[in-house]
Amino acid sequence: MKINENYKKLNESYLFSTIAKKVNEFIKLNPSKKVIRLGIGDVTRPLCKSVVSALKSASDEMGTMEGFRGYGPEQGYDFLKEKIQKYYLEKNTHLELDEIFISDGAKSDLGNILDIFSKDNTVLIPDPVYPVYVDTNTMQDRKIILLEANKENDFLPMPNDNLKGDIIYLCSPNNPTGAVYNKEQLKAWVDWALKNNAIILFDAAYECFIDDESLPRSIFEIENAKKCAIEFCSLSKTAGFTGTRCGYTIVSHELIFNDMSLNKMWLRRQTTKFNGVPYIIQRGAEAVFTPQGQKEIKENINYYKENAKLISQTLKKHNIWFTGGKHSPYIWLKCPNNMTSWEFFDYLLEKAAIVGTPGSGFGKCGEGFFRLTSFGTNENTKEAMQRLDELLK
Ligand code: MLT
Repeated sequence: MKINENYKKLNESYLFSTIAKKVNEFIKLNPSKKVIRLGIGDVTRPLCKSVVSALKSASDEMGTMEGFRGYGPEQGYDFLKEKIQKYYLEKNTHLELDEIFISDGAKSDLGNILDIFSKDNTVLIPDPVYPVYVDTNTMQDRKIILLEANKENDFLPMPNDNLKGDIIYLCSPNNPTGAVYNKEQLKAWVDWALKNNAIILFDAAYECFIDDESLPRSIFEIENAKKCAIEFCSLSKTAGFTGTRCGYTIVSHELIFNDMSLNKMWLRRQTTKFNGVPYIIQRGAEAVFTPQGQKEIKENINYYKENAKLISQTLKKHNIWFTGGKHSPYIWLKCPNNMTSWEFFDYLLEKAAIVGTPGSGFGKCGEGFFRLTSFGTNENTKEAMQRLDELLK
């Protein structure tokens, strides 16, 4: 029996598990200190009223002879897909219902999608970025080329004629930097992908945070993107589903490679390995896309945006360089006094009992940077900023 030796190449634990372990150790040693968590992007606003009421009535339905449902369609119920179809139509993108696949969140699908691609592919991954892209490809031993994202390119790496690769990950608004590609920049990536017979895996988990109408919230706002891109979306950050679990992935019929339809391959993969998202949850997700649901989730997003403002103001006051926080829940800052990312993590935890995320956890180019999230409660964010203000004096 041989194990998958590629796991040896991974860090011992996933970034956010490592942080959780460190924080738990700190709490054990300092039980009286109130730790404020602005690390993992986990939401704090409760589910909105429309969602809760939909979850309740779907639960009641499941307890009746007529309303009970067993296995559902692996790719999701039409009632939810129809709502998502309409949501995309508002962004001028027409999707067929069978191009929409309901999932239990973007993270799973971003990893699982690799099942339909050969291990021989070369993968391009921006650095710094959401660690799931590198880890899942490392598990399958794909060749990875990192694309440097830095202050000089506004943390938005761009293609050039010499760049070669088969799969490229783009995350916009970006986790962790909060940088957002404009339409022209995304078009350059679409053109590059079409020219190189490559596929773009577009992570749009944070699209709801974009305020500027001119910035693309979906890669399908770019002409011909349906021929070269798969889009991953999630209700985690949009509607507070981090613990409820629901997302969706768009695989267009126009994705044909070697006479194979990626849509059909993904359907085959999902029907074989996935039994779908629970009916009750899909009813809750459906409520997100109603006019009332949209109004309610917008209130929550605005609440987080207020937190982002608070964090930004504190950093400005102390002349700390930062980006993000505008079209994104994340604020990406330069560690003060040239500290490394983990040094600043320890310093902030020890001295102010604030948890953030070390930039180096998102890749080599993240070294010397740090990520704070605006997903905390307003009270805690205020308190954390008072502590930070004191500390930086
Ligand atoms: C993050 O903090 O980067 C995210 O919460 C991780 C995730 O969405 O899985």
